[in-house]
Amino acid sequence: MDEQLLILGFAGSLRKDSYNRALLQAAAELLPDEAKLEIFDLEGIPPFNQELEKQMPEKVKEFKAKIRAADAILIATPEHNYSVPGVLKNAIDWASRPYGDNSFEGKPAAIMSASTGMLGGARAQYHLRQIFVFLDMHSVNRLEVMVNFASQKIDEQGKLTDDTTKKIIKQLLESLIAWTKRLKK
Ligand SMILES: Cc1cc2nc3c(=O)[nH]c(=O)nc-3n(C[C@H](O)[C@H](O)[C@H](O)COP(=O)(O)O)c2cc1C
Repeated sequence: MDEQLLILGFAGSLRKDSYNRALLQAAAELLPDEAKLEIFDLEGIPPFNQELEKQMPEKVKEFKAKIRAADAILIATPEHNYSVPGVLKNAIDWASRPYGDNSFEGKPAAIMSASTGMLGGARAQYHLRQIFVFLDMHSVNRLEVMVNFASQKIDEQGKLTDDTTKKIIKQLLESLIAWTKRLKK
């Protein structure tokens, strides 16, 4: 078998019982053997300060190194006030700096979102896709995994219980793997 692809996943939520973190955990279980998922916790990344970008905080250095080492990126994010949560945007801003050292450059990526609301984080996903343009990331277009009414699909142990959602996550992961292989050629 070829070497396994390494996917780096992170959630745009610091909440211990985050539904989006639960989606990443479900993804780790649904991933085909040809890839593995490492989950990185954004907890501890300080607010961005451009004065510090030449002596990056340790946690940011670690984040940037993990992104660079990964073959692909998987982001699971909530929607906050119709957009990307500050925690996620802050982490992305750090990892894109200093100018000329954008860790995300050229990376294949996939997005999932979970929300307690009806639209499942759709608006945050489209804002994230816009951010990907400047980062020069190549995101999988479909399937769009937008998990609405998340509290009915993820149980109190953080386990995804909804079979339809499992199915679409699996399809997204298969697309991400195929896309990553295509971009590597
Ligand atoms: C500051 C804030 C803003 C929110 N704005 C939205 C929103 O615009 N759309 C939405 O669907 N849910 C919104 N929510 C509800 C989130 O969908 C819900 O809190 C979700 O559980 C967050 O994801 P997590 O479980 O991964 O932390 C908001 C929640 C917070 C705390």
